[in-house]
Amino acid sequence: MMTALSPSVTVAVVGSGAMGQGIAQVAAQAGHTVLLFDTRPGAAGAAIEAIAKALTALVEKGKRSAAERDATLDRLCAVDGLADLAPAGLVVEAIVEDLDVKRRLFAGIEAVVAPDAILTTNTSSLSVTAIAAGVARPERLAGLHFFNPAPLMALVEVVSGLATAADVLDSLFDTARAWGKSPVRCRSTPGFIVNRVARPFYAEGLRLLQEGAADPATLDAVMREAGGFRMGPFELMDLIGHDVNFAVTRSVHAAYFGDPRFQPSLIQQELVEAGRLGRKSGRGFYDHSPGAARPATSEAAAGPRPSRVVVEGDLGPAAALPGLLRDAGATVEERPGDGVLMVDGVTLALTDGRSATQRAAEDGRTPLVLFDLALDWSKATRVALAAADGTPAEALASAAGLFQALGKNVSVIDDAPGMVVLRTVAMLANEAADAAFQGVASPADIDLAMTKGVNYPLGPLAWADRIGGTRVLAALDALARTYGEDRYRASALLRRKIWGGTHFHG
Ligand code: NAI
Repeated sequence: MMTALSPSVTVAVVGSGAMGQGIAQVAAQAGHTVLLFDTRPGAAGAAIEAIAKALTALVEKGKRSAAERDATLDRLCAVDGLADLAPAGLVVEAIVEDLDVKRRLFAGIEAVVAPDAILTTNTSSLSVTAIAAGVARPERLAGLHFFNPAPLMALVEVVSGLATAADVLDSLFDTARAWGKSPVRCRSTPGFIVNRVARPFYAEGLRLLQEGAADPATLDAVMREAGGFRMGPFELMDLIGHDVNFAVTRSVHAAYFGDPRFQPSLIQQELVEAGRLGRKSGRGFYDHSPGAARPATSEAAAGPRPSRVVVEGDLGPAAALPGLLRDAGATVEERPGDGVLMVDGVTLALTDGRSATQRAAEDGRTPLVLFDLALDWSKATRVALAAADGTPAEALASAAGLFQALGKNVSVIDDAPGMVVLRTVAMLANEAADAAFQGVASPADIDLAMTKGVNYPLGPLAWADRIGGTRVLAALDALARTYGEDRYRASALLRRKIWGGTHFHG
């Protein structure tokens, strides 16, 4: 049964900053009368003017009619006091991120709105349960977490506090959908879905940088051009702002009682201390001053063209390579074996979470060069390679030549366990699995949140299904053994999926 609030229900948006303004626009576009309130004098009116400007720009681009814009603007109304919010059937709070201030506000709102009005908070980092504990009827309070900018970002996390009633959540979910959004359901736990599951995207990049695996430009290029991510971690952190990104990491780390999985990075702390906040301050990992050149990525020199390649056994997630090599004119001989390629006497293998040096020593195959995971081998324009210590330069050149023959750029990184894409994806999948395991959200909603909220090319759990849970687990276990840190412990749900022979989806 559809339980979306009718457009005839008045919506109150409290706080008309970046988020309140965007949410007010979304609700008004969906046909609701929107009352906008802010304690800063003139702020609500200014927000409506900003919405008018944004809508006029859309009219000029032909994306809206002038009549639609005028109708939306007619539905927006700045009000002067909390008492004016009395007609609201839905309240969305988007004020300063402070528990006491939010609790006080909701107590004031509860005193003026109808007993069946739904109360929501757009908080990113506070407990919805804790905010609701301050009101007389906590069952009608939930999180309605939009992403910035709210009119453009499709994802809305509908967050249940301990006391939130099921029909309130259903109604918010259906209302968000009626507003053209992609809602997901989650329990009020630190970081909800996106701000929790995305942590390893930044954290593993920062670890790889700290350990000297490669420079930021190369790590970003590998994540984009092999991993299929729209942005690499360093350019994305520069865009978000290091102050904001570091604060979220610290808050999630503290909220999980110091779980090492969320440990913040000294490198990022130093950038914040230096005032290198990213694009907004002109400098972060990159120099954003006008005219500044983007640093070059590390590119391998042209290697010899492979004439004959031997494929031993099943290459798993790299199974597309033999076909691509044949298409590129190489002679490919396939024979049984343990999933490696051989060219000019060099063994090439997809990283399994062990360093090349460890793997060469354990498996006795030298010279050994590892390659990183790619989302889609035919579309990837770059491949990262890592060689075992002591590998001759000619061996590395032969390995580079093989991928260059496929039209890929090649970046040689230091011998980092799990390399870049596999290590990051394994950790994202692990965090997603643990969130599902702890009942924070369903696997389907977690993957939807990560594709809609942070534009990942594939949900982390769908990615784990595609690579195979066994490989993801092997990578995590190898990282845990190498580093001896609890940070890389595998989720019990991942192990269970493997034992049960099942997938996260279907
Ligand atoms: P902001 O600082 O741009 O706007 C907050 C507004 O609330 C200001 O205009 C301020 O005058 C007003 N305000 C403060 N106390 C008030 C009160 N007691 N009553 C009425 N108005 C009051 O903040 P922003 O970025 O819009 O964030 C608002 C909320 O949304 C926070 O809870 C934040 O965690 C959350 N959020 C922020 C996102 C972001 O990317 N900025 C994304 C998703 C959620």
